[in-house]
Amino acid sequence: MRILVTGGAGYLGSHTVLTLLETGHEVTVLDNFQNSSPVAIRRIEELSGMPVPCLAADLSDSIAVRRALAATAPDAVVHFAGLKSVGDSTMDPLPYFLGNVGGALNLLEAMEEGGARRLLFSSSATVYGAPRTIPVPEDEPLSATNPYGRTKLMIEQMLGDLAAADDRWSIGILRYFNPVGAHPSGRLGEDPRGTPTNLIPLVGQVAVGLRPFVRIFGSDYDTPDGTGIRDFIHVLDLAKGHVAALDWIVSKTGARAWNLGTGRGYSVLEVLSAYSEAVGRDIPYRFVERRPGDIPASFADTSKAEQELGWKARHGLPEMVADHWRWQRLNPGGYGV
Ligand code: WQD
Repeated sequence: MRILVTGGAGYLGSHTVLTLLETGHEVTVLDNFQNSSPVAIRRIEELSGMPVPCLAADLSDSIAVRRALAATAPDAVVHFAGLKSVGDSTMDPLPYFLGNVGGALNLLEAMEEGGARRLLFSSSATVYGAPRTIPVPEDEPLSATNPYGRTKLMIEQMLGDLAAADDRWSIGILRYFNPVGAHPSGRLGEDPRGTPTNLIPLVGQVAVGLRPFVRIFGSDYDTPDGTGIRDFIHVLDLAKGHVAALDWIVSKTGARAWNLGTGRGYSVLEVLSAYSEAVGRDIPYRFVERRPGDIPASFADTSKAEQELGWKARHGLPEMVADHWRWQRLNPGGYGV
């Protein structure tokens, strides 16, 4: 199929674009390169041996979005583009509403006008707020605990209304838990602009000596080793989840949400130990106070995606950290631009 991937130069987008190409799809990328690099597109072409046309545009530019839809006439759209920092969104929420919600509205309007009504939306486990049921099922009550999470929740609700009003829409909502790792070639990976906030990129920067130690936010949680527990999932498993969901939206109508996680939680200390194993020496760390807004534990109930999409994550923690470490070691400056 012809697929338009917004945010296709980003961390999750680039790994999904490569996996779509390897599955035989044709892909065009639309990206504003605000938090990504055109080098990632070149590397996808290098790894796949396929051309990846790329339109440099921002979803806030509704004319450019319409042009992209008209030019590609996609059979489906995979929508990654958006801002994703919980902390930044709390300090400066308006760009998140304009960028994430406004951008999604422009995209949906252009899709409606172009008659393209198949969409995969990049959502997040953050829409579960502080879940009461662990492992977290998709029918867990949804709530937002920060503006970023609220934009994801608002877009999910808009998509639900759209599909309920017009049964020509087929929409897959994919709720990511904690995506980590990198392509095993070491040529694609996470290249956070500025100071990363997620655990693994920070651990990698300590491992290459860019930072002195990892600050572990809290050691007094009600968990076996006192540190937070999360469902870390390899970015390539997440990419394969999109390919599986694509098959669903091609054959079904309506809007449906699935968790993309492994169904298994690892603590911060377990991650550090696994990463130290991959590096071959201990990663220095210090316990500091809890980070506001953090929840003690979260990991996915993955039975719905397994049953309905025939998809299950395959990579374990050792591969996740080994693949991330290779990327970090071979690309200490990320994509370099
Ligand atoms: C993981 C664990 C921290 C950094 C976030 C977003 C979520 C999604 C994924 C977009 C926690 C601990 C972290 C550090 C630490 N992003 N930690 N020291 O918070 O689970 O989820 O990223 O969709 O929306 O909320 O991920 O990597 O920030 O934290 O101890 O320097 O690592 O306390 O237990 P999180 P994270």
